[in-house]
Amino acid sequence: MKVSLPADFLWGAATAAYQVEGAVDVDGRLPSIWDDFCRVPGAIDNGDTGDVVCDHYRRWPEDLAIMKQLGLDAYRFSIAWPRVIPTGRGEVNPRGLDHYDRFVDALCEAGIRPFVTLYHWDLPSALQTTGGWPERDTAHAYAEYAAVVAARLGDRVRDWSTINEPLCAAWLGHLEGRFAPGVKDLTQAVRASHHLLLAHGLGVQAIRAHAARPANIGLVCNLSGIEAASDRDEDIAAAKRMDGHVNRWWLDPANGRGYPADMVEVYGVEPPVLGDDLDVIAAPTDYHGLNYYFRQIVEDDPTGPAPFARQVPVEGAGTTAMGWEIHGPGLADLIHRLHDDYGAQAIYITENGAAFDDKVAEDGSVQDHDRIAFFEEHLAAVASAAEAGAPVKGYFAWSLLDNFEWDNGLDKRFGLVRVDFETQLRTVKASGHFYSQLIAEHRTRS
Ligand code: IFM
Repeated sequence: MKVSLPADFLWGAATAAYQVEGAVDVDGRLPSIWDDFCRVPGAIDNGDTGDVVCDHYRRWPEDLAIMKQLGLDAYRFSIAWPRVIPTGRGEVNPRGLDHYDRFVDALCEAGIRPFVTLYHWDLPSALQTTGGWPERDTAHAYAEYAAVVAARLGDRVRDWSTINEPLCAAWLGHLEGRFAPGVKDLTQAVRASHHLLLAHGLGVQAIRAHAARPANIGLVCNLSGIEAASDRDEDIAAAKRMDGHVNRWWLDPANGRGYPADMVEVYGVEPPVLGDDLDVIAAPTDYHGLNYYFRQIVEDDPTGPAPFARQVPVEGAGTTAMGWEIHGPGLADLIHRLHDDYGAQAIYITENGAAFDDKVAEDGSVQDHDRIAFFEEHLAAVASAAEAGAPVKGYFAWSLLDNFEWDNGLDKRFGLVRVDFETQLRTVKASGHFYSQLIAEHRTRS
């Protein structure tokens, strides 16, 4: 495959702490809300947990060697707050911070640019006992944690994501109850959404104040193009509500537009904005992080939960093992929307990838041609957006490693690299080789 992208385009892969690290009780780490949620009967498929997963906390040298072998320019990973400040607030755990310090050194030495995510959903459990994200104090605790990490790593790390996918933490964690902490309450969810965005804004301030080098900071949102299932007025209105719920609720305040009034009305709940919160949330950032997996075709669902719209399957569409429609052009549409409607000057595709039911062949290889086709289709969309003038700066495959897919447990495999969770054997899949070759070809051409 030949993709035409700018010479300085960045090729990366991403993971998140709770999904790969394991070692949950090592070096002073205390539990997060995900450790707790995994103990709730029936919360996670097969009763799986993040206790061990890829043991990346200890096996990172091997994983770093794989990143080098693949030729990655950048690695996006998250810091586990419960390792750095195990009780959420107050005492810093030097062993937790030392770990990331060593890892960042090793990445830099290998010529791989560290893209650090500060929050990928593993809130220290102690902060849940004081109310979690529905409480304003949690945003201030996050800002303190962000300052600690920026002060320690900010002499080498340039690229920061404040919060990964606030939608999932707020809506899936507090409205649908499918994610930690498993709450189902619209008022709590709206409160959580505001404090997550406030944490983002306070995090931008903290990084700028404490990092020793100029920082490249962004909020990472998972976005979906939304289309109405029919031309019925009800479905068109439902599509607008779903767009508000999935996209505008996050993008509007982060870009200085405040919360969308139509959605405040749909929820019937005012976000708990105080003082200059909206200015803090809209603090200038350096890039937009876009995570893309699927678009949504929706119909009216008057009796369902907010936003009273439900996704319907697309007849005949190819889907991944998650049941998500494969629709590459949707990625280009979102890139253009960020650029044209929100004035984005730099966009990183901070996650894109697919789970498939990988088979291990007799020779031990994984011939995941469905995943290669997925990457081809989506990278073609990225290239077309770039050719049309959109400022796309880089792409991170989700994920470097097979890992813990939240409520779906260990069965849904997204990796470029297969991980045998029993033996910890790593095998670069055919998609990993494909990605590596793509990077090499891009370098040769540029
Ligand atoms: O695994 C997740 C990741 O943690 C956040 N973005 C979506 C991925 C696939 O579901």
